Amino acid sequence: MIKSDYLIIGSGIAGLSLALKAAQNSTVSLITKKKLFDSSTGKAQGGIACVMDKHDSFKEHVQDTLVSGAGLCNKNMVKKMVSEAPARLNELINLGVKFTKKENNQDEFDLGLEGGHSKRRILHAADLTGNEIENVLIKNVLKNKNITVFENHPAIDLIINKDNICAGAYVFISKKNYIETFQAKIVALACGGASKTYLYTSNPDVATGDGIAMAYRAGAAIANMEFVQFHPTCLYNKEAKSFLISEAVRGEGAILRSKGGNQFMDKYSTKKELAPRDIVARAIDRELKTRREDYVYLDITSKSRSFLMKRFPNIYAKCLEYGIDMAKDMIPVIPAAHFFCGGVKIDVNGRTNIKNLYALGETSYSGIHGANRLASNSLLEGIVYADRVYNDSLYYLNEKYCNLKDFSYKYKSSKKNALIYMQEWEEIRRTSWNYLSIVRSNEKLIKAKKRIDILKSEINTFFECSSITIENIELRNIVCIADLIVNSAMQRKESRGLHYNIDYPKMLPTAKDTILNIRDTF
Ligand code: SIN
Repeated sequence: MIKSDYLIIGSGIAGLSLALKAAQNSTVSLITKKKLFDSSTGKAQGGIACVMDKHDSFKEHVQDTLVSGAGLCNKNMVKKMVSEAPARLNELINLGVKFTKKENNQDEFDLGLEGGHSKRRILHAADLTGNEIENVLIKNVLKNKNITVFENHPAIDLIINKDNICAGAYVFISKKNYIETFQAKIVALACGGASKTYLYTSNPDVATGDGIAMAYRAGAAIANMEFVQFHPTCLYNKEAKSFLISEAVRGEGAILRSKGGNQFMDKYSTKKELAPRDIVARAIDRELKTRREDYVYLDITSKSRSFLMKRFPNIYAKCLEYGIDMAKDMIPVIPAAHFFCGGVKIDVNGRTNIKNLYALGETSYSGIHGANRLASNSLLEGIVYADRVYNDSLYYLNEKYCNLKDFSYKYKSSKKNALIYMQEWEEIRRTSWNYLSIVRSNEKLIKAKKRIDILKSEINTFFECSSITIENIELRNIVCIADLIVNSAMQRKESRGLHYNIDYPKMLPTAKDTILNIRDTF
């Protein structure tokens, strides 16, 4: 058994930031299922929203977040996040993160613009913001003596005792084909999102909803899983697996055009290309279906080559790799699953309804994103909640470790057949893509539910009698996520934000969360 004050599961911005704070006065086990760098944070291009300009205000950032969230945000939480943002950004800068400065004034940050923002307020490191942040955080974590990092350690399930206290997690060590018990006073789920539940996604392969699925199985309340955000502009190219063309490109003036070359966003919103993401993704979906086409174009040829190479070096180079010169060619793009606005329900300090269990970042539902997340608010949410969880969890440090004598994991790692169910994996992702995507209907939801119920039962039976492998852990988790999405979507009898159902096209007058696994303790 491995014992520490904190067990942090996940190595994106939320998990790494919490680890660094917790390690000031405690021992931390940081586990991650692949390498430390494998997280959605590392791939983030856009940046972090924060009020920095004298012509901007907290009030406007709050308002933009609420408008984007389509009536479902928790205003109090949004206000707290926005007002704490500058302090958290300064901490990142002090750790060594370098955000791009203005070319003509090195004392000021070059603030970017993205959809739904009324002001320029996105701090960025060219178009490799996540890469810069992730590398700096990893560097600091690796030199901290109080943090022990366990790479290639996927968590399988949480350990919950009879008093509904989380005491740790069962973790699979593939090298030894062994299940280890990690015990801790405080357990934090910072495992990112679940967009791999869909056939096409901007996310890295690790985004299989492990934190949400483990929390659900443990009895935690899960909120608003129907709100899956599709990023409007992923590169359309069979070889360019999940490559995003940042919303910042539209912030710098890129125009969306049909294959025939016509601009179309003016039909859908007065904000055109800079409307909130749900509106832009739905507009593209409609254009594609009406014209029976596979992609639309993103046109930034109005900008000079030197500007594009400096502002978007990563996107520029990637497009060139595929024969697209963005200074003179339009970029073929399609929407793809990008971010889960729902997740493990938490309170203002990141607490779940299970004692000693916290959730933060994309794994959680804090109330900040409501029915549609505002661009570049996610990295911000990660660092704000790392701080909140840290401060709140200090209270539990004086408690004793739970007695784990009677706990042994019910599944075994040593059985013979380690088949990987590729058919099921593919079927879940295709079903989610075809029936649980941008435009839904009652018929599609019923079809999805039937298929997912069968898959869930087969996969869970298979999990019980087969050897544990990382693939099987992930398969069990993505079927759980697909099940949560369809169950949440069926409960919502309206269209709001990212959930659009043609059979209930109107928004109801009162905004309500969809909660699965409700317990009165929360
Ligand atoms: C992007 O660069 O477009 C992604 C930013 C985000 O998801 O907030």
